[in-house]
Amino acid sequence: MWNSISGRSLPAIIILAAAAEGALAQRMAPVPGIPIDHKLTIEKCGGCHKTDQNGMMGRLSFMRTTPEIWQQTIKRMMRLNGVVATPAEVREIVQYLSNNNGLAPEELETAFWEVDHSLPGHQYDHVPSAVGTTCNYCHTIGRVLLQRRTRDDYEKLASFHVGLFPGAENQFRPRRTQQSSWEVPARIDDPGPNGVVSIAPARIDMKAPYPIDTVIDYLAKNQPLITPEWTAWKATMATPKLAGTWAVSGYQAGKGKVFGTLTIQATGAADEFTTKLQVYYPAKDVTLTRTGKGIVYTGYSWRGRESAESKPAASADPGSNPTEWREAMVVSRDGNGMHGRWFWGGYDEFGIDVTLNRLGSQPMVLGTDLYSLQSPTTSRELRIFGANLPGNLKPKDIDLGPGVTVTRVVKATPSVATVQIAVTNSLPVGIRNVSIGSATAVKALAIYDKVAYIEVTPDASMARLGGAVAAKQYTQLEAIAYAAGPDGKKNTDDDVRLGPVPANWALEELYSTPDDDDVKFVGSVNDSGLFTPAGEGPNPARKKQSNNYPTNNWGDVWVDATYSAGGVALKSRSYLVVTIPQYIRYDQPEVSK
Ligand code: HEC
Ligand code: HEC
Repeated sequence: MWNSISGRSLPAIIILAAAAEGALAQRMAPVPGIPIDHKLTIEKCGGCHKTDQNGMMGRLSFMRTTPEIWQQTIKRMMRLNGVVATPAEVREIVQYLSNNNGLAPEELETAFWEVDHSLPGHQYDHVPSAVGTTCNYCHTIGRVLLQRRTRDDYEKLASFHVGLFPGAENQFRPRRTQQSSWEVPARIDDPGPNGVVSIAPARIDMKAPYPIDTVIDYLAKNQPLITPEWTAWKATMATPKLAGTWAVSGYQAGKGKVFGTLTIQATGAADEFTTKLQVYYPAKDVTLTRTGKGIVYTGYSWRGRESAESKPAASADPGSNPTEWREAMVVSRDGNGMHGRWFWGGYDEFGIDVTLNRLGSQPMVLGTDLYSLQSPTTSRELRIFGANLPGNLKPKDIDLGPGVTVTRVVKATPSVATVQIAVTNSLPVGIRNVSIGSATAVKALAIYDKVAYIEVTPDASMARLGGAVAAKQYTQLEAIAYAAGPDGKKNTDDDVRLGPVPANWALEELYSTPDDDDVKFVGSVNDSGLFTPAGEGPNPARKKQSNNYPTNNWGDVWVDATYSAGGVALKSRSYLVVTIPQYIRYDQPEVSK
């Protein structure tokens, strides 16, 4: 009998026994993971990543991510761990893992900019600051946001960083010590009631969690392996039937709107397609034709590439007519829409933001060449882009809302109607739909009284020196006009965007470092707002630094735009940092091959 041994130690024994039982139960319980049942993956990876009796494979079963990260990891397995696989085998494994251990559409959407290579604002804005400062030091935060793992696997991810890149320790567990106070910044308190500022040596809380502990807590809680979104998506995941013709409408900064069609053809493999593209830039009167291919991962995530039939002649404008571009798009739930970005350039800084709609036999209106019309306008030509538009189009078939009259149909083809319009006086400011018959483009055309102000976009940007060793990173700026909106006041919520306007562009010194004359060295901006950075340097013409080494062409400047509207010069400016090339880059172009 237990209680006959010793009354005093009974509680201790019970606790011990309970603890042992708990540990045993934990060991026996199936680890929540995602079984891997793919022959080639097990063959190539199973030597080190063992499969247990439940089909759980070490590491692989406990994470979900994008094709790009699967590709990157496998490259490392080949580089460091001697995995041998042909490109076709890697492709098959990446496809399997992206489908079996991928992300649900909602999960990808939160950081789609990581895969479409648009470079949005400040990366720290997307996560709590502890995650930003700890994990955004060496790579984008998008890579972190596009992970779903178990807590244990996040811990292993952290250990892998410290093991392979010991520098990570400075972010994960920065050194802290009470003794050497010179390493600890002093704390300067706000002036007290008597106006005295006190300076005290900072107290470091030696018991506070390290940044990595906070980050792992955050990731385990907010980005767990199993989520309702993934469970729901996986249960009904199917390869979308994309074959057919798609209407394309898009926008490229600096080049304006884009309209066209993408024809998608099925191949022998259910999730692989070939493509034929034709797009037209109304503002430039330029047509591009391309052929390409695409792969659909996880039932909705398109990665493709599109190439020119013959290599285009070298152009002074890197933003136009590239030999090849890559594509990242997401297919909508109903399988009839796609949206994403087609991108190119040394840093993928050029791109077309696109929306695709499946074309049937019904007419479709995509948009207009103009962004806005002033009230009043006596006579102006407007092109309306679409598909399956009626041949015998009459003015009465076209609806641009009250006060905007179509006076004449100049020309009508199935994809573009050219019409003459008149706009009456004193129309309310706002954005209108454009309809032909029962087909409508929503919020396609603005009506305004006058341009109230312009704004340069992006309001802050970064370019990189290059040309000799590394590629240049360009920046395309645009001046966007706005009307004040119904309240007549500038910079309020009801302001109406009127589209890009041709501005005069200039660089101006930003006084950050005395006499550094950045504006003479960083590069130049052309009439279309394209900033071209200078060469990498070092530049002997540049003022010596205090250590007497000539420095290179980096710097920060203002980019000024001036646009004259009705005799008034409207101005806006944007902050531009011109920095050195990025010498280490992560890119997985293989996922669209
Ligand atoms: C020779 C042994 C070996 C083989 C074979 C191997 N791996 Fe690994 N794998 C490792 C080691 C060691 C680590 C931990 C260090 C690291 O992450 O690089 C690891 C880690 C991983 C991780 C976790 C990485 C992360 O993001 O945290 C994944 C995923 C992975 N391997 C996938 C694969 C795949 C897929 C294959 C087969 C194509 C494969 N491995 C084959 C040794 C191997
Ligand atoms: C010291 C630099 C550094 C810091 C800090 C850092 N990373 Fe990384 N991380 C890397 C490098 C380098 C790789 C790419 C490894 C390779 O070449 O395959 C990587 C890869 C990754 C990957 C992809 C996994 C894979 O298998 O390649 C993830 C996810 C990731 N890091 C998450 C994080 C998180 C979360 C943090 C913050 C806790 C973080 N990183 C902080 C350098 C860093």
